[in-house]
Parts: sequence; structure tokens; C-alpha cells
Amino acid sequence: MNIGIIGSGEMGTCLAAKFVKLGHTVSIANSRGAASLKQVAEETGAKAASIEEVTKNKEVIIVAIPQKNIQYLPKNLFKQLDAGVVVIETGNYYPTLRDGKIPALVQSGIDSLWVQEQLGVPVVKVFNSILATSIKELGRPKGEKNRIALTVSGDDIEAKGLVFKLVYELGFDSFDIGPISQSWKQQPGSSIYCRDLTLNELKKRADAMGTDWSEMRKIILAKRKTDEALMKADYPAYLKGLKD
Ligand SMILES: NC(=O)c1ccc[n+]([C@@H]2O[C@H](COP(=O)([O-])OP(=O)(O)OC[C@H]3O[C@@H](n4cnc5c(N)ncnc54)[C@H](OP(=O)(O)O)[C@@H]3O)[C@@H](O)[C@H]2O)c1
Repeated sequence: MNIGIIGSGEMGTCLAAKFVKLGHTVSIANSRGAASLKQVAEETGAKAASIEEVTKNKEVIIVAIPQKNIQYLPKNLFKQLDAGVVVIETGNYYPTLRDGKIPALVQSGIDSLWVQEQLGVPVVKVFNSILATSIKELGRPKGEKNRIALTVSGDDIEAKGLVFKLVYELGFDSFDIGPISQSWKQQPGSSIYCRDLTLNELKKRADAMGTDWSEMRKIILAKRKTDEALMKADYPAYLKGLKD
């Protein structure tokens, strides 16, 4: 498959290396241009490219940049995509830690609804609720004990089907959270965020959250705030807490 990745940080390079290893053709871009990506290209096997190039003639485009920068991506690139191109977004909104206040996002509270609006195309949300280190280390063949599952949400059933296949190739089960309006269940502050859970555990926790965002909003956003403070003060303690 031809895959374009926007973002050459921890998540973008992790996915680039994995997908190259699986036999896909991968191009990767950042905000500084292809010339800055020589080392990334060497390390991952992906082709260093401009943002324009990574969005051309691809079957899948993965957006892996900080949420605050989504609004600065050239919007025409996404609007010009052929029908059927799957756009994946891996982002998380961390207002106090990294992204600052984005009023429209704060209002809805559902990160990927805002991303969809910004890009002007439907997105599939995946890889946001697993650490890049877990993607690197925890992939297992189907049937192996402790195989974990990744959360996926999006409105386009066919697009999600393709994402399930990619997730499977990486060595994970997929758990379909539902439409993008339900993607809050996989956001920072939720009980399934970055917990490396098996499919059964994930399903139990997702079901326990119900489907009513107005009910869960206060709880999840308050937990995100506490987590942000802990990440700032003591990142190892935050990581340890994810195991509880
Ligand atoms: N790291 C993880 O374990 C992890 C796990 C789950 C979800 N996520 C989410 O995934 C997203 C990316 O995280 P990360 O950890 O990979 O971030 P990161 O290490 O800080 O890297 C960010 C990347 O985005 C690029 N970028 C920023 N603005 C851009 C723009 N306007 N156009 C093109 N590229 C741009 C940067 O390129 P330049 O350096 O050239 O600016 C950089 O390569 C975040 O929303 C994060 O919350 C990360």
C-alpha cells in the first residue's frame, strides 16, 4: 500500500518504520521540508518528502502532528484527495501541556470532530490511545496470549475496514469504538487511554463508559487535566499510573 505520513516525530517515525518493514511504500514529511528528513529516511526506510508529496497518489495518509498545528496544514491538499483515500489521525489534545486553548475544540470537547472540520475530510482515529513505544514492542500474532487491541473510530465503514487490516498487520486486534462522535472514549482522560488492554478488557471498559458524552465529559476532561499536571511534574509516575 502507498502510505503518506505527516509528522516525523515519535509517532510518525514509529509508524513509518513499522509499515516499511511490513512491505508498504511509505513517504514521510514534517514542517521543515524533505531536506531535514535525511536521517529519518535512513532509519525508517521511508522516503523523505514534502507535505504536498505525501498527500499525492496515496491510499492512506496518516496525520501525526501536535493538535495545535492541525489548523496550519494546507487545507486544499485534503480537499483535493481522491475518493477512497483514508485519512488517519493519531492526535490528542493537551491544552495545558502542549496545545494551548483552541476555543472550537474546547467547546465540543471531542478532539477528532474538530480535526475533521479543520481538514475538511472524514478521518479515522487510531494510534492515539497507544504509546509509540507500545506499538514498537507489543505487536503479537493473532492467538498469542496478551495480544492487545487498539481503539478505532470513524464514520466511514470501508475506511475503518482498511484501518483494521493495517492494525492487524502490526500485531494488534482492533476495537471499533463507533462513529467519530463517540471518539471521546479513546481520548486522554478516558479509562482506556494508553492502557495496553486486551480486546476483552477494552470492550468492558468502553461499555462501562456508556454512549453519553454529556454525562462523561466532566469526568474525562478532569482526569485529562490531572494527568497533564502529573506528566509535567513526574512523567515516569504518569506512565506507572497507566498500568493501574
Ligand atoms: N508519541 C507518542 O507515543 C504518541 C502516542 C499517541 C498519540 N500521539 C499523538 O500523535 C501526535 C504526534 O505526536 P509525536 O509524539 O509524534 O509528536 P512529536 O514527536 O512532537 O513530533 C511532531 C512532528 O509533527 C511535525 N509537525 C508539526 N507541525 C507540522 C506541520 N504544520 N506540518 C507538518 N509537520 C508538522 C513536526 O515536524 P517539525 O519538527 O519539522 O516541526 C514533528 O515531526 C500528537 O498529537 C500526539 O499527542 C503520540
